Amino acid sequence: MKTVREILDQKGRDVHTIDASETVLQAIRMLADKGIGALVVQNDGKTVGLFSERDYTCKVVLTGKRSESTPVGDIMSQKLLVVHPDTSIQDCMVLMTERRGRHLPVVENDRLVGLVSIGDIVKDI
Ligand SMILES: NC(=O)c1ccc[n+]([C@@H]2O[C@H](COP(=O)([O-])OP(=O)(O)OC[C@H]3O[C@@H](n4cnc5c(N)ncnc54)[C@H](O)[C@@H]3O)[C@@H](O)[C@H]2O)c1
Repeated sequence: MKTVREILDQKGRDVHTIDASETVLQAIRMLADKGIGALVVQNDGKTVGLFSERDYTCKVVLTGKRSESTPVGDIMSQKLLVVHPDTSIQDCMVLMTERRGRHLPVVENDRLVGLVSIGDIVKDI
């Protein structure tokens, strides 16, 4: 069974992150610049959450919060779904389906070593 490690071997291990104190405006600029849908949120280099396009639409646009002054840390999703490089693609699909997440940060020995998205998995299969 194929694992996350093999997807990262092809995709690369760089992860786009943002500090929890940065503004939502800076975060959505990063999403647009990089052409991606989510950022891992960190505080003092420690992973504390995930900021996604859905967080933006539901928790900023719909609630009338100001992107220029709202810190990413205030609206990020704190329930983090993470996987290990040895996690199977099958288990990633189960996690994404049952927990409704499209981005899975990859953690090994407490270190962030990559990120796989639903598109990476669809591409693979
Ligand atoms: N052809 C390909 O190689 C490929 C790979 C992935 C996605 N896609 C397509 O792109 C579209 C959107 O993809 P998606 O829904 O998976 O999400 P997405 O737009 O967030 O992801 C696009 C790519 O960026 C990477 N990525 C996203 N956030 C990242 C981050 N913070 N750090 C590092 N890498 C990050 C993902 O792993 C994925 O490879 C879909 O239509 C999908 O099919 C194509």
